[in-house]
Amino acid sequence: MSRLRNKTALVTGGSAGIGEAIVRRFAAEGAQVLIGDIDQTGGECLCRELGSAVAFQRLDVSAAAAFERAIQRVMEPWDKLDILVNNAGIVLPAETVQDTTEEEFDRLMNVNLRSVFLGCKLAYPHLRASGGCVLNISSMAGVTGQERHAVYAATKGSINAMIKCIASDWGPEGIRINALCPVGVWTQTLRDWIQVQPDSSKIEDYLKHIHALRYCPEPEEIASVAAFLCSDDAKLVTGCILPVSGGGECGYRYHGPPSHVAS
Ligand SMILES: NC(=O)c1ccc[n+]([C@@H]2O[C@H](COP(=O)([O-])OP(=O)(O)OC[C@H]3O[C@@H](n4cnc5c(N)ncnc54)[C@H](O)[C@@H]3O)[C@@H](O)[C@H]2O)c1
Repeated sequence: MSRLRNKTALVTGGSAGIGEAIVRRFAAEGAQVLIGDIDQTGGECLCRELGSAVAFQRLDVSAAAAFERAIQRVMEPWDKLDILVNNAGIVLPAETVQDTTEEEFDRLMNVNLRSVFLGCKLAYPHLRASGGCVLNISSMAGVTGQERHAVYAATKGSINAMIKCIASDWGPEGIRINALCPVGVWTQTLRDWIQVQPDSSKIEDYLKHIHALRYCPEPEEIASVAAFLCSDDAKLVTGCILPVSGGGECGYRYHGPPSHVAS
């Protein structure tokens, strides 16, 4: 499929994980993509592999000046910005509110939430000119909550609330904004998170079980939905907080073998 032919995109956190899968998918669908990430080695390695349609710019998403430079880096060679993917994010510390320091609170807020504010604010004039769209990689934790993730869930819930407002503000100008909400996805962030869980040996089983479809997905499964939402196939979709979660939000489940499936 080449649904993104002639589109240009900035993907934050595109050097690894879900962002990397989105960069690969967008490039495969014909887009020109700028990776904006603090991981220069990973980003430049991906550029070498994918060729001239993909470029890298060092970007800390919590810094306005760096974000502005990344957007200019899209505008200079490609002359327009069609798609902004606010993907970069952090999850740790996985702690209760009483065990989270003010510094940790600020860091989570800056990387996960301030970045979305900055990205939307700075990309707006370019998206208005192109009739473009924004996609945010949020989390089901921001919808349902999650034990020992008060601040992380607050950043994602705030993104979800912000999207609803921005969709209303920008709708008349033809700019779309949406969010994807995974539950778990096999990336380095998830592997690091497993290491700090109280019983990490049982986590793989838990990760399968919390998805109704009984498996924890790879990043490519998130990227394929991202490509759809950023394409004209989804031109009527805005303000959508879409679970891409294998049914992770579908109510309470007994943690044992499903009774109706023969073993
Ligand atoms: N993996 C999961 O289970 C999961 C579940 C729900 C939501 N998410 C969300 O998906 C997004 C991507 O997570 P992932 O699992 O792919 O993580 P990852 O650690 O695999 O990749 C994150 C990328 O973001 C970059 N990054 C980190 N801080 C940055 C900063 N300040 N500025 C620019 N780049 C920065 C990293 O260098 C890395 O390349 C995050 O927003 C995360 O909250 C992930």
